[in-house]
Amino acid sequence: MGEIFRSYWLPAMLAERLPEPDGAPVAIKLLGERLVAFRDTEGRVGLLDEFCPHRRVSLLYGRNEECGLRCVYHGWKFDVEGRVVDTPTELNPDFGKTIEVTAYPTHEAGGIVWTYMGREPVPPPFPDFLFTRLPASHVLGYHYRQECNYLQGLEADIDISHPSFLHSPIGEAPIDKTREAMGVDPRPRGFTRDEAFGFQTIWRWNTPDPAKALYWVDPFVVPCHTIVPAGRTKLRYIWHAWVPIDDEHHWLYYVHYDPDTPADEEERRTLEYNFGHDLIDPGIEYRSRGNLENMHLLDRERQKHENFSGIRGIAAQDVAILQSMGPIVDRSLEQIGSRDVLVMHLRRYLLDLVRKQMAGETLPALDGTVAFPDIDSRMVIVPADTSVDQVLARREWKWGEAALAEA
Ligand code: FES
Ligand SMILES: [Fe+2]
Repeated sequence: MGEIFRSYWLPAMLAERLPEPDGAPVAIKLLGERLVAFRDTEGRVGLLDEFCPHRRVSLLYGRNEECGLRCVYHGWKFDVEGRVVDTPTELNPDFGKTIEVTAYPTHEAGGIVWTYMGREPVPPPFPDFLFTRLPASHVLGYHYRQECNYLQGLEADIDISHPSFLHSPIGEAPIDKTREAMGVDPRPRGFTRDEAFGFQTIWRWNTPDPAKALYWVDPFVVPCHTIVPAGRTKLRYIWHAWVPIDDEHHWLYYVHYDPDTPADEEERRTLEYNFGHDLIDPGIEYRSRGNLENMHLLDRERQKHENFSGIRGIAAQDVAILQSMGPIVDRSLEQIGSRDVLVMHLRRYLLDLVRKQMAGETLPALDGTVAFPDIDSRMVIVPADTSVDQVLARREWKWGEAALAEA
């Protein structure tokens, strides 16, 4: 899978971690490689091997000055493209030209620094998901450092039966009417359609009214992205990425966006509270303050009276159950059931990708033909006899029961 990830542009970090030119460099591990990121005097972002090629000192200690990162041990200096631009300890001024430094191209979009860690001299076209084209005011981005394998997270994202339990309110807690069906029907049906970008997942719940059904369309985009239809605030989509740090850690990205509406301060606060993003602590490398040691702040009173999990925040609930599985699940111990159909499809799809990659076949979504801004998600309540194909075809159906009038 590592080679597959290296074939695609990947999110490296939130751009907010490099707020100013010549600011402090940031250590970042991706796909098992220890790297250092820095923003140079002209605002460009470099992503280099963390260790100086001279005697392997960490460049995290480096001086970020005059368009380059200078190692503090003997003063060698590197630019954002990995060129050795100064070797003050050497007699030969061209000595640096003989030295190769690992440097990956970067691209900033949607509040994220992206990188291509592949072996091709020219990276593939950039995946310009809709949020990467919106003004910053329409986008709220977060990321979590997670203590487990990326696939546990990705699988949870298309696990159709868990919202009825893990994310459900109980007792007198207010109910989101659009999502009410999730609490009524614990056995949603799952469908897939393979697409040029990966595959669509389509989830269908019965609603309290037998004449209607709730459909949820949630695309998986290779190698590790999904788009989830909105949360409990306004109609704001959620783009996810699950990026491996190494086999036992990953970065989870939560980007909330709306092409039509900027987010105000009140929405930001509500959303952070409802998802648990307010628990993210940049001081501990963007981990959540809910962790295995404190059982992710599980409150047994809340579990009795407010919600199924006892944990506040949709993202915090997912973080908790994923980390509770341990760093890598032993899948030979699982007892897979009928509602795991989408997870099974994902596993088969990824195994097929590995086969393709090993056979030297072309991988999906790399040839420039996929229109990334058009990949969307939706959650609609429609007549119960509406087919999956109809739901997929009616892209103007976005959210809620309003779709009925157009059916
Ligand atoms: S170890 Fe970096 S310049 Fe010597
Ligand atoms: Fe979830």
